Amino acid sequence: MLSDSLPRSVLVVGSGGREHALILALRASSAAPRLLCAPGNAGIEDLATCHSVAADDVPGLVALAQREKVEFVVVGPEVPLALGLVDALAEAGIPAYGPKADGARLEASKVFTKELLLKHQIPTAPAAFFSDEASAVAYVRSRPAPIVIKADGLAAGKGVVVAQTHEEAEAAVRELLALHAGSPDNRLLIEDCLTGEETSILVVVSGRDYVILPTSQDHKRIGENDTGPNTGGMGTYSPAEVVTPALLEKIDRTIVRPSVNAIADEGIEFRGTLFIGLMLTPEGPSVLEYNTRFGDPETQVVLPRIESDVLALLWAAARGQLAGFPLRIRPEHALCVVIAAKGYPGSYPKGDPIHLPHAIPSSVSIIHAGTKRTSAGQLATNGGRVLGITALAPTLRHAAVDAYAVCDAIQCTSKYFRRDIGARQLRRG
Ligand code: AMP
Ligand code: GLY
Repeated sequence: MLSDSLPRSVLVVGSGGREHALILALRASSAAPRLLCAPGNAGIEDLATCHSVAADDVPGLVALAQREKVEFVVVGPEVPLALGLVDALAEAGIPAYGPKADGARLEASKVFTKELLLKHQIPTAPAAFFSDEASAVAYVRSRPAPIVIKADGLAAGKGVVVAQTHEEAEAAVRELLALHAGSPDNRLLIEDCLTGEETSILVVVSGRDYVILPTSQDHKRIGENDTGPNTGGMGTYSPAEVVTPALLEKIDRTIVRPSVNAIADEGIEFRGTLFIGLMLTPEGPSVLEYNTRFGDPETQVVLPRIESDVLALLWAAARGQLAGFPLRIRPEHALCVVIAAKGYPGSYPKGDPIHLPHAIPSSVSIIHAGTKRTSAGQLATNGGRVLGITALAPTLRHAAVDAYAVCDAIQCTSKYFRRDIGARQLRRG
């Protein structure tokens, strides 16, 4: 695609590491677009003009895009998608990357997605749906533990409990029904527990056309050796070698193609990222969930491995011109270590000063998430996940050494990170 047909100004919506990684990739485009971000963070500020409009302020974002004559909007997080930001931008004549509200339901409603998966016979755990406590508890008692309880709506990662015992399952039923108490469609989904290794596949979708992005795996638990509570993600690496070329072909045939077709058959014109969470069970890959956006921190390792022009890719998807897009992938390994504030995912301090090393290797990027600049210009923590250190190297081991050297050189009293990102793949050798 000719760079002169690409948009000359792009607004990225969001403020996390994912959005910083998107900005880095868009900045490398041959089109050299003017970059804006709302609301952004202290790292994004150095690369794009940040505007203090919240990521869930749909009218504010449309007004900003109009005022700044933005030609393309790339939406990072799920909440604005579910609120209909892309629909509102379309009404204002502004193209955007990300599904409209109907497509965003695939992430915003687990019940909607499970119904779609079952109807289209896409591999997934068998499940039942409940809206009252008594029948949910009765069902739980009739099933073997472990068993999985899921709340229907968006819950920022807190809507799923894998209960090991019946007591835990009953407590989860009450807790998850309370999450959306009072909402008319407050529902629970109770499903069989699958076993295997988890992986996720990011797919850029445009109607019935799609491009599968490089594979990746994340580390969801806060503690080393995958212990402790779940988080948004403590680190990632790409490629995920557990997904061999033969397995990827099977995932494409049994999961990706059927999912894309099912979504189109349901009348949804999906143009954005379909992030498919999979369990690699002994019987084959099975869908745990769909997300309708880039993963965070998956994006921090997936985008650096894409050699093709990422702006051209997202623009082609948004314009319905994705068919035949030639995706070129770099052979290097990427690894991202998330630096969190001590206490995350529970309560943690904010405003702690951060001192970054002056010189880092060119193969390493310091990606900001929860950071801000104080009025005195000091970089400080401003969230649970603070930074993501991504390294690109010929081997995963080399990428880990480079990333951890930078993690160690960062000074911040509340700094916490896992030392074992990539360890499982490294052990496999
Ligand atoms: P979800 O948001 O639906 O992906 O669920 C969050 C996490 O819960 C997943 O990443 C899995 O670790 C776990 N999980 C969800 N569904 C199941 C299942 N049916 N069996 C086992 N683990 C599950
Ligand atoms: N890292 C998982 C997610 O973005 O949902």
